[in-house]
Amino acid sequence: MTNKEIVVSGIRPTGNLHLGNYFGAIKNFVKMQETNECFFFIADYHSLTTHPTPGDLQNNVKQVLIEYLAAGLDPDKATLYLQSDLPETAELYLFLNMNAYMGELERVTTFKEKARKQPDNVNAGLLTYPTLMAADIIIHKAAKVPVGKDQEQNLEMTRTYARRFNNMYSKDFFPIPTAYNFGEQLVKIPGLDGSGKMGKSEGEGNAIFLNDDPKKLKKKVMRAVTDSGPTEKNQEKPEAIQNLFSLMDVVTAPEIISQFDDQYNDCTIRYGDLKKQLAEDMINFTEPFRERIAELSSNDDYIKKVMNMGKEKARESASRTIEEVRQIIGFRKYYSI
Ligand code: TYM
Repeated sequence: MTNKEIVVSGIRPTGNLHLGNYFGAIKNFVKMQETNECFFFIADYHSLTTHPTPGDLQNNVKQVLIEYLAAGLDPDKATLYLQSDLPETAELYLFLNMNAYMGELERVTTFKEKARKQPDNVNAGLLTYPTLMAADIIIHKAAKVPVGKDQEQNLEMTRTYARRFNNMYSKDFFPIPTAYNFGEQLVKIPGLDGSGKMGKSEGEGNAIFLNDDPKKLKKKVMRAVTDSGPTEKNQEKPEAIQNLFSLMDVVTAPEIISQFDDQYNDCTIRYGDLKKQLAEDMINFTEPFRERIAELSSNDDYIKKVMNMGKEKARESASRTIEEVRQIIGFRKYYSI
């Protein structure tokens, strides 16, 4: 055990990683692995809440691990593992569910959104998504959780469940974790389709994936939603246009952004030029990821090794916590893996 601050976060294996995942989460993971004790996992249990019969779960998992590594995560610095390799998480989830209430779970925005999107499959896993997420986090007694803005409410629920456990069973047992971003504010990267956020399953034209080939990437950007242009000087930008500027914020040089901003404000902007610039900057930004993804994709032995190494380290930490939890609640004294 070290006395470094413990960090936990995860990503669902429901598609390739996109710029939203990168700027909302992974960029922080890469920085935090240098100074903290980090656990980054692939949330395959969680993916069943929306994709109950995944076509090729193993391949999706492998792809996320490859993309984690391509983005700069280092298995010698951070513990990289698969959620389902830790049965301890499922056990803690069960304990937390005993003290999680219907009313509070039904009020979670992501639950309501997903229930609306998949009315024929409003399953108990979807409802208890936040308790599983709490279990993921507190199984390692994390202090910080690097996530994007969309996970803020889930993190609030984690804090509630950690506090509740402490109040019911053992004061100060679990640290109360906080959602974290280096830039202080949690990040929300918009999509290219005019509204909302970039997401893995928001439709073809919405997301830019780290692995998109340059031609495809450019096509998506050139098709991004705009309008017919500003008609009055200094008018407020409508959402679709603001989104393009927000995307530029993460990949484009500030002086170039301010040129486009000036052009918008004096109504001389040509969206085609702005999109060309944005596409070029995104292509340059993603190029090193694409190269490393291609390299790692042919190295199955290495991927397996990373997965096994992570499993071992993660279980060591998780089994310690679950043993204590069992004792605190009053189950049998010894738990061994
Ligand atoms: P997931 O797989 O939807 O997203 C993974 C991470 O990427 C962030 N993210 C974004 N950030 C900014 N802008 C966007 N457009 C954007 N899209 C995604 C998410 O905020 C997240 O940090 N519930 C989680 C997975 C999870 C988890 C956990 C995370 C399960 N257990 C425990 C942290 C701790 C999820 O669905 O992430």
